[in-house]
Amino acid sequence: MHTSDPVCGGVLRTVGRTPLVELTRLEPAARFRLFAKLEGHNPGGSIKDRSALELLRGAIRDGLVIPGRSVVVESSSGNLGIGLAQACGYLGIRFICVVDPRANRQNIAIMRALGAEVEVVTRTDPATGEYLPVRIRRVREILARTEHAYCPDQYSNPLNPRSHHATMREICEAVPGGPDYLFAATSSCGTLRGCAEYAREQQLPVSIVAVDAEGSVIFGREPAPRLIPGHGAAVRPALHQDGLADTVVHVSDLDCVVNCRRLAAREAILAGGSAGAVIAAVRRMADRIPDGATCAVVLADRGERYLDTIYNDDWVASHFGDVAHLWKENSPVAEVAPC
Ligand SMILES: Cc1ncc(COP(=O)(O)O)c(C=O)c1O
Repeated sequence: MHTSDPVCGGVLRTVGRTPLVELTRLEPAARFRLFAKLEGHNPGGSIKDRSALELLRGAIRDGLVIPGRSVVVESSSGNLGIGLAQACGYLGIRFICVVDPRANRQNIAIMRALGAEVEVVTRTDPATGEYLPVRIRRVREILARTEHAYCPDQYSNPLNPRSHHATMREICEAVPGGPDYLFAATSSCGTLRGCAEYAREQQLPVSIVAVDAEGSVIFGREPAPRLIPGHGAAVRPALHQDGLADTVVHVSDLDCVVNCRRLAAREAILAGGSAGAVIAAVRRMADRIPDGATCAVVLADRGERYLDTIYNDDWVASHFGDVAHLWKENSPVAEVAPC
């Protein structure tokens, strides 16, 4: 990285180069090795710190954003908003984030604590009943009436996937021989497309598994209500391209919960909802994965932001009934390997 790069100082230097750990307790009988990229170790707590940084770096390089003068405006109720709040805060850029009432209160509080202005739209779109079109209209209004305003638009900006070439490169450097399978959850398609582009460029023989939510439309399914934020989308993102993934797996909200709780119980990793989705996808594909293969999963964020939902027994029971046995049964007694 160039030393005069304005976005590589201070806390922003700690984005990326996240740890990769082998999961040996989750599926002790598995015939393959499983490695997890812990993206929650990014300073803003998620993989979207990478996207936020690259989006801003490109905009500053191209003169679209000038620290101290420009205003960055984005619609995000979650991790990208936090990543942008952090990067804009460090760089002295005013940031307005448009969210809707479904946004996690803790996420809004984190963005505000980092100096972002958070605007909550209150109505749904009369035509679709969705908040998303209203949020997008509000971003356009702010852009139209604010001098030096810029919207990075993570859903169409190629710098979003570009930021994940490094994600895949780091995985390939850390997994002996490179992974045979890569599992990544999808929303904007930034992670999936960036990892797929890097694999194609490097001619890596890796099979890419896209993990989407049941009820998401990214891969051509009908929309349906979803409970767990992070992965999935109500509108197919412009970054989507046919052929990005070799396999697509759709995962239910319940499967996310169960596999997040299993991950916490067996590996002591507290991760967000889409982490449960990728673990569920590995389990679903287990019979098709050849003996001795190496799999890598991207765990996109930390679990603290889900303490009121996925990790709250009352919330889980109110949505899914008595399901605790699904992650409690057959809990293995772990073998302790020397470090
Ligand atoms: C928790 C979580 N998992 C997965 C994703 C999907 O990542 P991408 O937008 O790169 O497709 C996101 C995106 O915001 C996320 O917040």
